[in-house]
Amino acid sequence: MDVFRVEGNGPLEGEIKISGSKNSALPIFAACLLTKEPVHLKNIPNLSDIRYMIEILEYLGAKVENPEIGEWIIHANTISHIAPYELVRKMRASVCLLGPLVARLKKAEVSIPGGCVIGPRPIDLHLKGLRKLNCDVTISNGYVYVDAANMRGSSLFLGGRNGSTVTGTANLIMAAVLAPGTTRIESAACEPEIIDLCQLLVKMGARIEQIGGPELIIHGVDELHGCEHTIIPDRIEAGTFICAAAITKGHVTLKGISFKYLGAFLDKIQEAELPLEISDDSITVLPYKGSLKPVDIITLPYPGFPTDLQAQMCALMSITEGISIITEKIYPNRFMHIPELQRMGADIAIEGSSAIIKGPRPFSGAPVMASDLRASAALILAGLAGKNTTWIQRIYHLDRGYESFETKLSALGAKIERLSEKDIPNDLLDT
Ligand code: EPU
Repeated sequence: MDVFRVEGNGPLEGEIKISGSKNSALPIFAACLLTKEPVHLKNIPNLSDIRYMIEILEYLGAKVENPEIGEWIIHANTISHIAPYELVRKMRASVCLLGPLVARLKKAEVSIPGGCVIGPRPIDLHLKGLRKLNCDVTISNGYVYVDAANMRGSSLFLGGRNGSTVTGTANLIMAAVLAPGTTRIESAACEPEIIDLCQLLVKMGARIEQIGGPELIIHGVDELHGCEHTIIPDRIEAGTFICAAAITKGHVTLKGISFKYLGAFLDKIQEAELPLEISDDSITVLPYKGSLKPVDIITLPYPGFPTDLQAQMCALMSITEGISIITEKIYPNRFMHIPELQRMGADIAIEGSSAIIKGPRPFSGAPVMASDLRASAALILAGLAGKNTTWIQRIYHLDRGYESFETKLSALGAKIERLSEKDIPNDLLDT
């Protein structure tokens, strides 16, 4: 398995381009199953999650072409309705095949994705929504079986104990666009990735009203057609690089990202007094002296502070003077990065779903273990700010969701190398 060796090397400096959004691209690939005609997607990041999704689409019968770097044409002329465990287990987001399969084929058999280290990831709201659309839904042998022969539009409510559901909303929108009649989704997720999906579907001929709001009205149509669509930039990648620049007191410009995707995050980072220059399509982090200010954060569904930037903020607040409290409301146990940050010197206590961070505590390098995608990024940030060498294991998590992460960091002057596990000095692993 690959590992990263990271050495603190002072401030990051330079300019990078933000890639297309993983969490936008995944349901959008699934949406390509809704039509017999080809759909041409652009600005697709090169990630292992995207490759898994393409593998599943090919298994289902779609023809997939890659005419240029970052561009894919999906042609789902004839498809089957069964997504097996061997493929689905590789990536949780494959659950968003359910909506398109029931809409197009009026039936689906999709394996239920397994557990996940960031906490329970139920799909009860997805299934409740499908039942409201008059689908017959059963679970057996680890699979969801949906008979959608009598599917029709209806009113449904998607709020759960931790807010709405992003992929659940995506699934139900994709089911409803081809369901006879009108569907009203209340407490729909409002994430920019849901807006991107709706914009693709409208180009394909879907009739969706109030896009971006918590109540969506969808008038079912008989069929959809092909189109061309460019995926929005990845707001979580952008937030991660802003934290990377901040943690090294660097001077970094991110191109191709609009501040409009990052409202709650930029609000907090500005409260921390990180100097920024913001334009319509770029954000520049400016160098600063001394310490940032501590901030309290609660993660919430969009437009609240994103859970996918919580781990990176834990790393940044660890080197910040004062006490910060970061409360996780989406995945209350998403704190697997904290014991690893503690190994690198952070002073963080976990109280229920809050992390209480006392800073400044300088990071010092150690061998650490990445537990999920965003935890991997947080550990790399700590390594960039730290003394000595940090070895980060299980970086396959990072490859799921950050395109060319180490190449982009190296372009900014970071010392980060991808090596093999056997390169980690034995004496470090023994301690
Ligand atoms: N939930 C339920 N029932 C459901 C579905 C969700 O109770 O049927 C709960 C979840 O347990 C969680 C909350 O609702 O507490 C939100 O879950 P959601 O369904 O919105 O998450 P998701 O759609 O599975 C997406 C992103 C995640 C991101 C979350 C929250 C994709 C492919 N994944 O997951 O991204 O953390 O929304 O914003 O879009 C990541 O990129 O690192 C990542 C984990």
